[in-house]
Amino acid sequence: MLELKVSTPRYWLETALEDFDAFLIDHAACERKASAVGMSFVVRYPDRPGLTDLMIQFAREELEHFHQVYRLVEKRGLMLREDEPDDYVNLLMKPVRSGRDERFLDRLLVASVIEARGHERLALVASHLKDPELQKFYARLARAEGHHKDLFLEIALQFFPREIVMNRLEEFLWVEAQAITAVPFRSALH
Ligand SMILES: [Fe+2]
Ligand SMILES: [Fe+2]
Repeated sequence: MLELKVSTPRYWLETALEDFDAFLIDHAACERKASAVGMSFVVRYPDRPGLTDLMIQFAREELEHFHQVYRLVEKRGLMLREDEPDDYVNLLMKPVRSGRDERFLDRLLVASVIEARGHERLALVASHLKDPELQKFYARLARAEGHHKDLFLEIALQFFPREIVMNRLEEFLWVEAQAITAVPFRSALH
């Protein structure tokens, strides 16, 4: 239902895995931010039937991912870092509209395309890790992000007509393609 417009090139994987410690620290931050996105839906849209429960569940799941990645960070004797501006996410947020319904739909679709990219890239990482435990861990996280991609799109379809959702999704998929192409490769998820 949701197909990214551009695939991640192999060169990204080489850059990401070149400094796996840096990748892990960034990945931990991404999981923590995803959890915060879930809670921000809880705070902003208490009036949308069924949404709060789904978003609490989502936020808990992402928080659990954060905790698991954090444990890996700690085990390696590393430390979390303060957040840096995320150019990729900022580019995706730019076209988000301001009307109450429009903003809700756009934020759901932004979340969905971010999850789709996370799913793609974590699966790539999983398929190239040598350590079998770590590989299993990343494969499991990749699957979870795949479910999240569907979750946000399904929520959008629950609250808005299909044609409106799919047309706007197409626009965000192109914005995502431009954003992911624009940001330089580094040892980070994006
Ligand atoms: Fe996650
Ligand atoms: Fe996710």
